[in-house]
Amino acid sequence: MTARSAPPAPHATPLDLGGRTALVTGAAGGIGRACALRLAAAGAEVRAVDLDAAGLKDLVGSADGLPGTVEPHVLDLTDLDAAERAAAGTDVLVNNAGLQLVRPLEEFPPDVFHTVLTVMLEAPFRLIRGALPHMYGQGWGRIVNVSSVHGLRASAYKSAYVAAKHGLEGLSKTAALEGAPHGVTSNCVNPAYVRTPLVEKQLADQARTHGLPEERVLAEVLLRDSAVKRLIEPEEVAEAVAYLCGPQASFMTGASVVLDGGWTAH
Ligand SMILES: NC(=O)c1ccc[n+]([C@@H]2O[C@H](COP(=O)([O-])OP(=O)(O)OC[C@H]3O[C@@H](n4cnc5c(N)ncnc54)[C@H](O)[C@@H]3O)[C@@H](O)[C@H]2O)c1
Repeated sequence: MTARSAPPAPHATPLDLGGRTALVTGAAGGIGRACALRLAAAGAEVRAVDLDAAGLKDLVGSADGLPGTVEPHVLDLTDLDAAERAAAGTDVLVNNAGLQLVRPLEEFPPDVFHTVLTVMLEAPFRLIRGALPHMYGQGWGRIVNVSSVHGLRASAYKSAYVAAKHGLEGLSKTAALEGAPHGVTSNCVNPAYVRTPLVEKQLADQARTHGLPEERVLAEVLLRDSAVKRLIEPEEVAEAVAYLCGPQASFMTGASVVLDGGWTAH
C-alpha cells in the first residue's frame, strides 16, 4: 500500500445527506423539483429557490414525509446580490434554473438574451461565489450545474441558451479546479430533452418557428439526433445529480455527465 491509495470504495452505499443543506434553484418545476425531492429523500435540508411561489408551495407538500426537509425561498435570480446571499452556508448547490427562447439570431430580443445569460450563467457564478466560503471552511462541498446537450452542441435559433450553457460548462470546470484542494467538486449534467414544462412550451414555440404540428416537431426536431426516441424523465436527471453528491463521486470533478440518449455519439 502506498500513501497514494484511494480510500475504500463505498460500494452500494445509499446516498445519505442527513445533516447536509442543499440549495436547488428553479425548484418549483421540472428537473429542479425532481432534484429537490431526490435530495430531501436522501435526508438533506433543501432550500428550494424559485420565483414561482405556488410551485414551491406544491413542492413542499410533495416533500411531506421524506427524511429531509424542503424550505421554500421565493427569489428572482436576476437579483444577483440576493442570489449570492441565499447560497451562504449551503453544502450542496444545484444550479438548475433556466429559461429558453427559440428565435433566429437577427430577431433575438437583446433584453431576453441578457436575462437568459443573467439567470443561467451570472446567477450560478454568484451562487457558487456565495457558497464557497462555507464549503471551503468545512473541506467539503458539491456543486452540480444542470447544463444540457446544448452545453456541448449548438442548435439553430437558441443563441442565448447555447451561449449560457457553454459558459456554464466553463464556469463548472473552473470551480472544479479551484475547489479540488478544498474537497469541493463541481460537475455538469447534460440532459437531452426532458419531459418538463420548459420542453412543452418549446414544442409549441418550435412548431410556430418551423411551421410544423407539435408531434412532428417532437419526432423530427427534438428527437432527430437522439438514438433513444423518447424524452428523458426529470427523475432520471435527478438521479445523476444525486450520484454526483454521493461519496462514490468524490473523484469526479470538472466532468460533464451526458444523459442524451446517444445524441452526441453521432
Ligand atoms: N427540459 C429539458 O429538456 C432540458 C434539457 C436540458 C437541460 N435543461 C435544463 O434544466 C434546467 C431546468 O429546466 P426545466 O426543463 O426543468 O425547466 P422548467 O421551466 O420546468 O423549470 C425552470 C424553473 O426555473 C425557474 N426560473 C426561471 N427563471 C427564474 C428566475 N429568474 N429566478 C428564479 N427561478 C427562475 C422557473 O420558475 C422554473 O420553475 C434548465 O437549466 C434547463 O436549461 C432542460
